[in-house]
Amino acid sequence: MKGILLAGGTGSRLYPLTKATSKQLLPVYDKPMVYYPLSVLMLAGIREILVISTPDSLPWLRGLLGDGSRLGLEITYAEQAEPRGIAEALLIGADHIGGEPCALILGDNIFHGAGFPAILREAQQTLDGCVLFGYPVSDPERYGVGEVDENGVLLSIEEKPLRPRSNNALTGLYFYDSEAVEIARDLAPSARGELEITDVNKHYLKNGRARLVRLSRGFTWLDAGTHDSLLAASQYVHVIEERQGIRVACVEEIALHMGYITAEECHAIGVEMKNSEYGQYLMQIAQ
Ligand code: G1P
Repeated sequence: MKGILLAGGTGSRLYPLTKATSKQLLPVYDKPMVYYPLSVLMLAGIREILVISTPDSLPWLRGLLGDGSRLGLEITYAEQAEPRGIAEALLIGADHIGGEPCALILGDNIFHGAGFPAILREAQQTLDGCVLFGYPVSDPERYGVGEVDENGVLLSIEEKPLRPRSNNALTGLYFYDSEAVEIARDLAPSARGELEITDVNKHYLKNGRARLVRLSRGFTWLDAGTHDSLLAASQYVHVIEERQGIRVACVEEIALHMGYITAEECHAIGVEMKNSEYGQYLMQIAQ
């Protein structure tokens, strides 16, 4: 399965923070925001990852992540010149996807919870059409919303409905079979001029091939696209990390555990950052 990490957009809801940098490089406590979605793809066992971003942001993201080899990954980059919608990522990434299934994740989505690797694995193994991930929120009107029946079967999908039919937000993580690119090719832009990922998902739903995995109690999903949610995400990560002495979305640690890098390689990255507690943590876990 191929991975696409969409780190696009102007980040205008975060101005002036994002006037001179990419939203996905802003700190979520102790690491850049993009580490969080990257860690999700890594936990899903995906190693070939296309990062899509704006012409301005791409050099910065490349500066941070390079070709991915230090994490045992293959990271490549592509440009989304204008904010023409999330579904455009499937078109930009068509060559990268190369007729395989793919996972698409948005660069400001943060997932944290026990058992997530198993959930991701199961979703991949049973993939037939698309898998969407739902999470109960108090403000569903801000998101794509999935309505389900009592058996958890998906009934409808709406993008930012004024009157949501459920509190089930559709998170920015999508698993697609090899048809997604063709579906995206046939989309027309929405009223706001974007190729909507919700329209791709509706297409799968219409054909009875969209499944919803509900992440709920004991799981945390955050987006970090506004000042308040960015602060909340940092506070959340800070509390967990301070209390447990572990690091959330530490991509080097995941690479080590997945067997993508050796303990020596992990230690060497730590040494480069030894003045920061993050670097010291890498040195410690490598031992
Ligand atoms: C996008 C999607 C929406 C989804 C959300 C998750 O919204 O359109 O369906 O629920 O991401 O973060 P946006 O953040 O682009 O407004």
